[in-house]
Amino acid sequence: MKQTGGGEDAKRRAGESAADIPEGGDVVGLGTGSTAAHAVRELGERVDAGLDVRGIPTSFQSRELAREVGIPLTSLDETDPDVAIDGADEVAADGALIKGGGAAHAREKLVDSAAERFVVVADPTKESEQLSQPVPVEVLPDARVPVADAVRSAGGDPTLRAAERKDGPVVTDNGNLVLDCEFGMIGDPSGLARTLSATPGVVEHGLFVDLVDEVHVGTDDGVDVTRY
Ligand code: A5P
Repeated sequence: MKQTGGGEDAKRRAGESAADIPEGGDVVGLGTGSTAAHAVRELGERVDAGLDVRGIPTSFQSRELAREVGIPLTSLDETDPDVAIDGADEVAADGALIKGGGAAHAREKLVDSAAERFVVVADPTKESEQLSQPVPVEVLPDARVPVADAVRSAGGDPTLRAAERKDGPVVTDNGNLVLDCEFGMIGDPSGLARTLSATPGVVEHGLFVDLVDEVHVGTDDGVDVTRY
């Protein structure tokens, strides 16, 4: 069952807790979304105070925010991150995640999986026993129909994500489309991840299985940290 206790303060506590992790000289994967943004802002304060870190953004949003708060940037062309700090849409008890609510999951998975240590920041509303949210699947524009068919064959119900304040679909930072795929309770996230990854036209899906090292969940008065 979903927890209550979300809200900006819980997100901020989680973000600030994770921003404690990077040390001088580290390269940090900068996640996308409102919770990761708290970590990026806090890291910016620390850079201001003299901490020597560089960031690798996971999206247009996190690049812009990093620039705004003064975090020097690098890329995967130069180095892998020592630590990546990122949000999630759902966090299962075994650490499996659903990401992509902001349609940034392709670059997020690239950066988060390259990191030596992948830290998720969340509020309690994201926690659940078993994954059950729709899985965002980024697809090449030409692959929208065949991938939707393949998702139905795998037992899912795909919906093309519609843009807000623009007619038509969401277009990702990479120029692709997103299918939000409802599978109900996901009993075998690894198997579903393999099926989606093997589907031609799928750029990346939002199932993050066996990737996370620790989860920081902000609560009403502190932060719960779980290590995997
Ligand atoms: C971006 O595509 C997502 O993976 C985000 O990391 C996720 O949606 C979490 O965002 P919030 O912290 O805003 O809930």
